[in-house]
Amino acid sequence: MNQNSNHIRPHRCWAEIDLAALERNLRLIRASLPAHIRYVAVVKADAYGHGLHHTAARLMHAGADLFAVANVTEATTLRELGPGWPILLLSPLLPEEDGCLAEYDLAATVSSAEEVSRFDAVGRACGRPVAVHLKIDTGMGRLGVWHEAAPALCARILAAPHLRLAGIFTHFSSPDDDAVFTAEQRQRFLSALARCAGVRPAEIFVHADNSSGLESMPGASPFNAVRVGLLQFGILPHPNSMLAQVHTEPVFSFHTRVGLVKQLPQGTGISYGRTHLLQRDSTVAILCAGYGDGIPRAASNRAQVLIHGQRCPVLGRVTMDQTIVDVTDVPGVQCGDAVVLVGRQGDTEITISEFSRHADTIPWETLCSVTKRVPRLYRTSLGV
Ligand SMILES: Cc1ncc(COP(=O)(O)O)c(C=O)c1O
Repeated sequence: MNQNSNHIRPHRCWAEIDLAALERNLRLIRASLPAHIRYVAVVKADAYGHGLHHTAARLMHAGADLFAVANVTEATTLRELGPGWPILLLSPLLPEEDGCLAEYDLAATVSSAEEVSRFDAVGRACGRPVAVHLKIDTGMGRLGVWHEAAPALCARILAAPHLRLAGIFTHFSSPDDDAVFTAEQRQRFLSALARCAGVRPAEIFVHADNSSGLESMPGASPFNAVRVGLLQFGILPHPNSMLAQVHTEPVFSFHTRVGLVKQLPQGTGISYGRTHLLQRDSTVAILCAGYGDGIPRAASNRAQVLIHGQRCPVLGRVTMDQTIVDVTDVPGVQCGDAVVLVGRQGDTEITISEFSRHADTIPWETLCSVTKRVPRLYRTSLGV
């Protein structure tokens, strides 16, 4: 991990995943919440591109209570890490996937009476109850039963002999920018929960809050779990987030190397479409990474990278395998030098939020867009 040991690093473009920071983040988030709140670690989409196996193993070690994944493929990969860890599937199952609930001991999200019947049949066939979390749509308009109909669906679950109600949850649509509507969603959820006869909230997972939701989570309430994705990776859900007080650290950084340095005269057009014309005689560095690695093409002519601790602007269009940057003001750049796309070099940092802004996207999407050809290198020590 030594920035200066370029000659022994074989990679052209790689991501570094700081598992020790991940563990510290989980502990910090937990410490910022009341002690009874359980921690649902959201590790879908290959743990937001960080790598499901390594990430989940470290989160298990750090004390996550439940893992949430998007689909059966992710859940079965996670199950390889061992039996016993509760796993919640957040997306609906396709009918032919139902059997996986029993085979891999997974909890399903329920949004409809049809799902109640299907999952009850799985429990009947395997001879033990299938765990389900009832999802209530309080205004996201995506998964879940509409909140007014939730008590009836909950009654069906409780009456199904081969189902075990393990949780009830909702998802906020705009917790980062609409406090009024988030409060309305909370209220709808609490009111639906209160009308779910026979449910003892203290005995199941009651959860609503993702990273942004934590900002408005009430102290005393039936909510007894949080569902955290982005913040555990050390990324704030928006720039002015109060969650900065939790002091999580970035887990992910993104790196490449200089492949070629050359001089070009003023007026030269750079890259496909010649969208940048050099304003002066320039020194440019050709980087060993492009959109084939996860530098979005939308970042063309906008993003900056760090070389020798200095910011260097991207010139022209990002291409599949190369990106061109201006190093005229950075003396001594050579083939092989380390380049930071996201992360810190010396005293300077490019955050994933900045990188994402340059590409008109959000950190969630940036992380999911780092491609398979980018190796993830894991830093495991607890040392700082
Ligand atoms: C249902 C659900 N819960 C929780 C999360 C975690 O959200 P965040 O990454 O903002 O913490 C997501 C993320 O997409 C989600 O879809």
